[in-house]
Amino acid sequence: MNIAVVNETGSTESRVALMPESVQKLVAAKASVSIESGAGLGAARTDDDYESAAAEIVSDRNALLARADVLVTVNRPSADDFQKLKKGAVVLGFLRPLDEPAKLTPALENGLTTFSMELVPRITRAQAMDALSSMATVAGYKAVLLGADRIPRMFPLLMTAAGTVPPARVLVLGAGVAGLQAIATARRLGAVVEAYDVRAAAGEQVRSLGAKFLEVDLGGIQTEDKGGYAVELSPEALQRGRDLIAEQAKSADVIITTAQVPGRRAPVLMDENAVNGMKRGSIVIDLAGATGGNVTLSKPDENVERNGVTVLAPTNLPATVPVHASQLYSRNVTSFLTLLIKDGELHVDMEDNIVGPSCVTHEGKWMNQRVAAAMGAT
Ligand code: NAI
Repeated sequence: MNIAVVNETGSTESRVALMPESVQKLVAAKASVSIESGAGLGAARTDDDYESAAAEIVSDRNALLARADVLVTVNRPSADDFQKLKKGAVVLGFLRPLDEPAKLTPALENGLTTFSMELVPRITRAQAMDALSSMATVAGYKAVLLGADRIPRMFPLLMTAAGTVPPARVLVLGAGVAGLQAIATARRLGAVVEAYDVRAAAGEQVRSLGAKFLEVDLGGIQTEDKGGYAVELSPEALQRGRDLIAEQAKSADVIITTAQVPGRRAPVLMDENAVNGMKRGSIVIDLAGATGGNVTLSKPDENVERNGVTVLAPTNLPATVPVHASQLYSRNVTSFLTLLIKDGELHVDMEDNIVGPSCVTHEGKWMNQRVAAAMGAT
């Protein structure tokens, strides 16, 4: 069984799907691993590092794809790359099946078996494969550093001979994986942190990190599903949250927004007025830019200025911390791959409660109901 890793093609991508330490594990599981020359350079790993881990380095991308049994990527391969794989080959990566299902049609037509890291169920057995959490952790951390770097003041409270410097105020909206990491990072830098989330369970986690949890009376409505995820709120409940946020935004130096509702457009938590009410020199970092944004003014990967307030919506912060982002991702995909390897051979068991639910296409069929419905297939 041959596992292939290519150079990620996106211009802002510096991560690599497998790090050398994972290659070693896969080779120990009797798989062979081929790496496109230079694939690890963005994550500070050379061809020599991979060779030492018993990978084969291949310069010819087409040849690498043509003989791969499994292609592991960070981002979805291009239609061209899908076509170069042999029928029945497996592809594993962030394939965006719910956001852009049609882009997987070439994989379907070529008879590829595709697994999406976004669809890995969040059950205990699959925790080591939770790449969404890994990337959210990196993004939450990096968003705080970005904010700290851009605002014209320091984060910690300082008592100096020249007087007292008050701490920065950070507001985090959405206290899931990214939000909690942002809170922890901002606290470590000495900021005073407040956070808001619609899930009551988030309150305890926020407080345990030393931040204040902002409570809003949403009229006792249900805010989370049985899987622990937020549900889409009524317009009225959303407005109550926005009113509270607009009030708190007036005194914030950095606002980091991370609110998402799985499979839906991100909820709008800050309108133009809320941004207009902020202090000059403050910054909003919208981490929901890829799913429509939490802030009406934000534009994916653009720097928007409004009355001295900066609004950023970086869509790929994990790629700005490529070593650790790749390391975590590589471990996640390697855990998944071990489910597909038996005695060094590819063995796909769709009855497995992680493998089956993560599959998007197999033998020319859409395997995920939501994707099938979006594509008008039964
Ligand atoms: P996410 O990325 O889907 O959403 C981020 C946050 O936005 C969530 O906390 C959500 O409640 C919040 N949110 C949604 N709508 C909002 C609104 N209108 N206003 C304010 N906040 C809003 O979620 P993420 O970070 O992927 O995970 C969320 C939940 O899943 C958490 O309970 C987390 O502990 C749990 N989880 C469980 C895992 C497991 O059991 N293996 C792994 C990862 C997360």
